[in-house]
Amino acid sequence: METAEELKSCCAALYEKDWARLLLGDSYHPGGLALTERMGEVLELRPGMRVLDVAAGRGTSALHIAHTFGCEVVGTDLSAEMSRLATVCAAEAGLSSQITFQQGDAEQLPFADNTFDAVLCECAFCTFPDKPTAAREFARVLRPGGRVGLSDLTREGELPPELQSLLAWVACIADARPLEEYAHHLRTAGCDDITTETHHEALAQMVKEIRGRLVAAQLLVGLKKLELPDVDLAQAQMVARSAEQAIRDGKLGYALIFGQWHEG
Ligand SMILES: C[S@@+](CC[C@H](N)C(=O)[O-])C[C@H]1O[C@@H](n2cnc3c(N)ncnc32)[C@H](O)[C@@H]1O
Repeated sequence: METAEELKSCCAALYEKDWARLLLGDSYHPGGLALTERMGEVLELRPGMRVLDVAAGRGTSALHIAHTFGCEVVGTDLSAEMSRLATVCAAEAGLSSQITFQQGDAEQLPFADNTFDAVLCECAFCTFPDKPTAAREFARVLRPGGRVGLSDLTREGELPPELQSLLAWVACIADARPLEEYAHHLRTAGCDDITTETHHEALAQMVKEIRGRLVAAQLLVGLKKLELPDVDLAQAQMVARSAEQAIRDGKLGYALIFGQWHEG
């Protein structure tokens, strides 16, 4: 069994790989930028607001939020390489004055108290080994009255063994929690007005697309047109097939969870 530090660094290292982009596209969460925009609407983002995107990955959502809502966005990710890539993307989009990226751990955010008007964290909270600490960190860096938005996989009941593997952990499945548990973490960290929305169809669609890409990747590897030496395609396909079944059985889903950090 991996330690918490091993789990975190394994997760960050896997998402750095080129094949992660091949399988997932630019947006590493179900619902893509449409659900990011929905998150921004519920968080009531406006020009002039200072927003933190925790576990920002390649910065796709941060760029979209800055562009769509006119906010100033700071993205942070455990992977220094992802933060570097995201910085390059922001420069290429001409948004360097509005967006910055900084390497950082969600469980120990490198920002002062009361820094942000809103914090969002898409499809990553479920991979943090210490969820209560991460939730407290989100609240700490929010100004009083600031809003937080999570999007995450949700789980009901027991998952089969293949969905409890390390790969499934990194794929945000193995440690997914019931929707009410995410709400509980925000509430315990000091948030009020918790609201939730389910978007299970977005997860079903994403897993379907990943399965298709895995089949294509296997064909290309077989034809020696693609090399993926560090990916176990058979295991990834098994996890994807089992995840599809779990979604059909109502055991896995996807949701947005919102809260407001209380007023001082
Ligand atoms: C599924 S990706 C989501 C990326 C991005 N939020 C998106 O939706 O496109 C998960 C991200 O979480 C990051 N991550 C994992 N553990 C982390 C931690 N403890 N602190 C900050 N980032 C972390 C990984 O490096 C990866 O970029």
